[in-house]
Amino acid sequence: MPIDEITQKVNDRYARAASTGEQMCCPTSYDMANLKSFIPEEVLKISYGCGTPAGLQTVSPGEAVLDIGSGGGIDCFEASRLVGPTGHVIGIDMTDTMLAIARKNAPIVAANLGYPTSNIEFRKGMADAMPVADNTIDLIISNCVINLAPDKRKVFGEMFRVAKPGGRFTISDIVADQPVPQYLVHDSDKWGDCLSGALTLTDYIAGMVGAGFLGIHLIKSSPWQAIDGIHFFSVTLTGYKLPTEAPQSTVHFATLRGPFSRVVDELGTTYLRGIAQPVTPNTLRLLSQAPLISHFLLSSDPLSLDRTDDRWTAVYPADAPCHWRGHFALLAGPFIEAADDDHHVYRRGEPLEICSKTLTVLEADGYAPHFAIINRAGKQVGGDAVTCSPAEGCC
Ligand SMILES: C[S@@+](CC[C@H](N)C(=O)[O-])C[C@H]1O[C@@H](n2cnc3c(N)ncnc32)[C@H](O)[C@@H]1O
Repeated sequence: MPIDEITQKVNDRYARAASTGEQMCCPTSYDMANLKSFIPEEVLKISYGCGTPAGLQTVSPGEAVLDIGSGGGIDCFEASRLVGPTGHVIGIDMTDTMLAIARKNAPIVAANLGYPTSNIEFRKGMADAMPVADNTIDLIISNCVINLAPDKRKVFGEMFRVAKPGGRFTISDIVADQPVPQYLVHDSDKWGDCLSGALTLTDYIAGMVGAGFLGIHLIKSSPWQAIDGIHFFSVTLTGYKLPTEAPQSTVHFATLRGPFSRVVDELGTTYLRGIAQPVTPNTLRLLSQAPLISHFLLSSDPLSLDRTDDRWTAVYPADAPCHWRGHFALLAGPFIEAADDDHHVYRRGEPLEICSKTLTVLEADGYAPHFAIINRAGKQVGGDAVTCSPAEGCC
């Protein structure tokens, strides 16, 4: 299907939504009472995101923020408040009706925030050819937009181009648990519904890594809907354009604390829990980012840990029967591969069927932030108890 046709359909869809204020897409968890105190209702009612820009919580005053597919401007206005009058926010959208509403409300929000002038610019442009200078953005956000772009590889490339070295992104978007079949991909009406253009989590993350981002990890996920057996869910992902210079450091070793028993980082280094692994300055750049840093002890001399050490972390499965209830776990970074203490090997983005016992493990603090969990069972399943133990293989 021609790219222009998809773009036109998506544009028409969002122009209509902006004019009518119809309800669309997915549940979000904005603090609406707070937003209402400075953002006009006209903007809030055309909020069509599929997440909340959690990354904005990391924003510092004075930073430059870019919102790709800014719509009526909800996330730009929140960013405007957080970066303060010395910061700068750019919103990009291709739909004139959306841009008109966002631009009309920018001075109103600035006045509500007590700013002398608005610190936001709404620019007309495409996500795959952004009207933004190279290496200028501290934080890129986007809320339910990239799935709508026909050429995502170009969008990821553009994100990397405009991010400052040391910059980061936090993107909420819809992904699927398996490749979306051709009959949906070629249904131009479904593009605007955030279905036809959804990538698998594996392909989404691979696209970002291909563009040059690293340290990609999950902030939040929630199930959305299942259509023809395909599970669509929303994810909020963060990643980094690492600083160009490797840090001057005396650190030469990294020891995995856990809870994973083994991990492989995005540069291909394998770490076993408790064993010191030599690291290059380049790897150190990666491990120094959150949340990777919380998994390691970084040291100048080799440092070993065992399970008697307070810094060793692990979540062991209960010695109890398993019930298979349709759950699948998708590792969503910051590692490309990771193993738990029950012989499961998780590969980033690939659904792995897990039983109730493993679900309990993955819901524990150390693991939970790294997994999206979906349930593929069509209806409530019986889930008869199965007895197994690590010695007999995992379950
Ligand atoms: C689902 S809405 C989300 C709007 C906004 N982020 C929010 O959370 O309310 C998608 C927005 O992205 C814009 N959009 C879709 N594809 C785009 C593209 N390829 N380039 C630029 N904007 C695009 C649409 O015009 C629309 O305003």
